[in-house]
Amino acid sequence: MQVLENDILVHRYFGKKVNQFSSSNKITYLDRAFSPSPISGNRTFSLDTLSMEYSSNGLGDFRAAAIEVRNEFGTALDLRYQTHRIFKGKKKLLDLPASFASEEEVETLEIDLYDQLTDVTVTLSYSVFEEANFLARSVVIQTGRYPSTLETALSFMLDFPHQDFAIHSLTGRYGYEKEWTVTPITKGKYSIGSIRGASSHSRTPFLALASKDVTEDYGEVYSAHLVYSGNFTGFVETTALETCRWGMGLNDWGFCWKLEAHQSFQTPEALLSYTDRGLTGMTQTSHAFLQKHLVRSPFANKPRPILINNWEATYFHFTEEKILSLAREAQQAGIELFVLDDGWFGKRNNDESSLGDWYVNKEKLPNGLNGLAEAINDLGMEFGLWFEPEMISVDSELYRKHPDWAIHIKGREHIYSREQLVLDLSKKEVCDYLIDSITRVLQSANITYVKWDMNRNITSISEGQANATKHEFYHRYILGLYRILDTLTQAFPHVLFESCAGGGGRNDLGMLYYMPQAWASDNTDAIGRLSIQEGTSLIYPIASMGAHVSAVPNHQVGRITPFSTRGNVAMLGNLGYELDLTALSDSKKKEVASQTALYKSIRQTVQFGNIYRLQQTENTKAYTYVNKDKSQAVFTFVKILAQPEAPLVQVRLKGLEERALYHCPQLDASFYGDELMNIGLTMPHIQKDFFSVQYIFNKI
Ligand code: DGJ
Repeated sequence: MQVLENDILVHRYFGKKVNQFSSSNKITYLDRAFSPSPISGNRTFSLDTLSMEYSSNGLGDFRAAAIEVRNEFGTALDLRYQTHRIFKGKKKLLDLPASFASEEEVETLEIDLYDQLTDVTVTLSYSVFEEANFLARSVVIQTGRYPSTLETALSFMLDFPHQDFAIHSLTGRYGYEKEWTVTPITKGKYSIGSIRGASSHSRTPFLALASKDVTEDYGEVYSAHLVYSGNFTGFVETTALETCRWGMGLNDWGFCWKLEAHQSFQTPEALLSYTDRGLTGMTQTSHAFLQKHLVRSPFANKPRPILINNWEATYFHFTEEKILSLAREAQQAGIELFVLDDGWFGKRNNDESSLGDWYVNKEKLPNGLNGLAEAINDLGMEFGLWFEPEMISVDSELYRKHPDWAIHIKGREHIYSREQLVLDLSKKEVCDYLIDSITRVLQSANITYVKWDMNRNITSISEGQANATKHEFYHRYILGLYRILDTLTQAFPHVLFESCAGGGGRNDLGMLYYMPQAWASDNTDAIGRLSIQEGTSLIYPIASMGAHVSAVPNHQVGRITPFSTRGNVAMLGNLGYELDLTALSDSKKKEVASQTALYKSIRQTVQFGNIYRLQQTENTKAYTYVNKDKSQAVFTFVKILAQPEAPLVQVRLKGLEERALYHCPQLDASFYGDELMNIGLTMPHIQKDFFSVQYIFNKI
């Protein structure tokens, strides 16, 4: 950055570390037609053509605004540098999840920009995690003597003097989350975002700008994450002068925040990183940073249990005996945790009732949660429970008592999704009710795992909704949610929390801060999950990615895949099972037991190692996960469809120790690291659909 003579703060560079800045390369000022100047007689100075650090519209900059504050003077801000502070460590963000570190690991720069006319101060915050190669940015906007409304407030904007990028984002839909999408930079604006009240299945609060010729190993990648779970925006805007502006923050659709005189607003945090080590560099830097500096849970670095979830095994129709018979099979197969999914509470026998009534259904579970948890604990397994706290069914005790707690527009019919409505978390009493009722359940039995689901998006916001104006509602909802999560995760540090929103409908860094795991997708088909898991693990740590083996024909797509492939694909994440184990043949049960035994021997490598995506084609996927000291590698290869005269596939591994000798029990052979990485392995020529192999390499 540079403070110009007139105190305007311009942006100079973001990228690979430069040790010294001579400032010999001066800014070039040119007289550009139709680029207005604030200085009479100086036609070369325009906010429109400078690289700005944080800018509004209205005074010459015609690119997307980072900030808009409306008051009696309009919405423009003439922001001038006022002062700055540098200190060790990093402040907490008020009421919002954010990265953290010790004072030795992070240093913060705060810059105050001030607009004299409107008396507004904008404080830009930059926390540098030098070791981890990450930069956390956020902004505080403070009014002075004039009440105002905040209409736009990005968490960061970044101007580049060129457009030599391709844009990488994660798109998709329900059951097909986090599709890795590469879009050429266009004339105009590429933007992603959500106005659903959640980050959504179809867009992730993440964007990367990579060199056009980036590969897994080479090329520059700039990446940005937003630590937020609600409505967001992210964009890359190109200009006629072939520069571009990048930004991310709260979505300004339906957003308008009232600030009285002398009040402030904190934006969510954005996390930026740069690497010249290609896409693998981005992934590994991101995993390491998030694992260490964002996942707040005491489980962040703990191995995650292998679980069985009863959802696809029973759906809503179970008895205590059925659950226990599943648990007994699971225990025999080496599974460590039983997760009781939807249907255990109120009168919930289908998805049309009882959300909000968080007390056990004694008809299904006559010995209550405590009785069931004890019986499962007696088997030597842990017990976990599903909740969907943010929702309310019209057919529920809660709705009969508090119909006004459901978000609705007075005088209009409800808008349903999965027959349910959303609770108004902008109301303190609603959040308190949820904290109390979930606390009561968690205290009622030995529950050491919670799956926190959320199965619809928000509609029907009205003016005066609860305590919030219409335009504050979405953000207030998320603040309410974060308060609940903050309270519960701190009150129950021994509980491992998993977030879920019909799979990955809110799999974002806001949730990851509180909940170290997420259910990546409701699509449990091994082939469908290949792209979902690849997109998820592109940026999120493997330890956060739930992956289950399910029954065939698969319940979502009807595909029949081999058991080994279902296991191999699920072992690319946190392994779990979601099928009726009691219905399996003895030989299949043995296969489950050998999968869990094997997974335990590679769990540390899978969950906390370095991931390498190997040469991929439309029809084949290959990965190696290597543990930190390179003593173990887990190699997985999946071939989707058999082909006539299929070419032989040779895969070269990555990340091993060149000179070390590795033994592979599956091949009953040993190989040197450099052999595997340079010559590679020839994949078996098997003419079957959905074929896969998994080879473990242990350093001898
Ligand atoms: C959606 C989740 O993604 C599923 O795993 C399951 O928990 C259902 N909800 C239960 O209703």
